[in-house]
Amino acid sequence: MLLKILEAGDLAQVADLINGAYRGEGGRTGWTHEGHLVAGNRTTAAELAADLAANPQALILGARHEADGPVLGSVWLNPAGGDAWYLGLLAVGIDGQGRGIGRQLLAAAEALVAARGARRMRLTVIHLRDDLIGWYERRGYGRTGASEPFPAEYTTLQDGLQLMHMDKAL
Ligand SMILES: CC(C)(COP(=O)(O)OP(=O)(O)OC[C@H]1O[C@@H](n2cnc3c(N)ncnc32)[C@H](O)[C@@H]1OP(=O)(O)O)[C@@H](O)C(=O)NCCC(=O)NCCS
Repeated sequence: MLLKILEAGDLAQVADLINGAYRGEGGRTGWTHEGHLVAGNRTTAAELAADLAANPQALILGARHEADGPVLGSVWLNPAGGDAWYLGLLAVGIDGQGRGIGRQLLAAAEALVAARGARRMRLTVIHLRDDLIGWYERRGYGRTGASEPFPAEYTTLQDGLQLMHMDKAL
């Protein structure tokens, strides 16, 4: 598995990968997704490019089998103040899930930010996603006790969605 920081030319592929993984694709879903909780696309290539431009230290790490092969999975990382970094948009393409790519991406993301001085990784998860919360707990993440309302710009399919904060000491 090649785990490398992605470039502008990869963002269209990454947006498709994220949208398929989070919300489903042609009626297909992976082992964990939020398609039953939130409607519409999660992001676009333009939004990713704008977010990267607005966060000069942010990056998107990607997993490939070969250097010129398709992006199989990706994860967003940005400094979150103090000694913490934030991890978001972790996604593995539906066809590649359940084979350890997510686990390898998460470990590589943690190693990368630790090498840049981070002592703590933070992330948020919709509070109802028990399978995903369990997956993060098995990787050493714990609930901080904090949460925030799910962002109002998305169309939610259920009332009262909260983003639950989790973190891990690196
Ligand atoms: C979450 C995600 C990144 C994990 O990537 P992945 O490559 O599928 O994960 P891995 O292959 O490394 O791990 C598979 C795990 O899923 C578990 N799993 C597989 N099928 C499962 C199922 N039907 N129900 C519950 N767990 C299941 C396996 O037991 C394994 O867990 P373990 O290693 O602790 O035993 C990926 O599923 C994804 O993109 N999901 C949609 C996007 C998303 O929700 N991202 C996170 C937002 S915070």
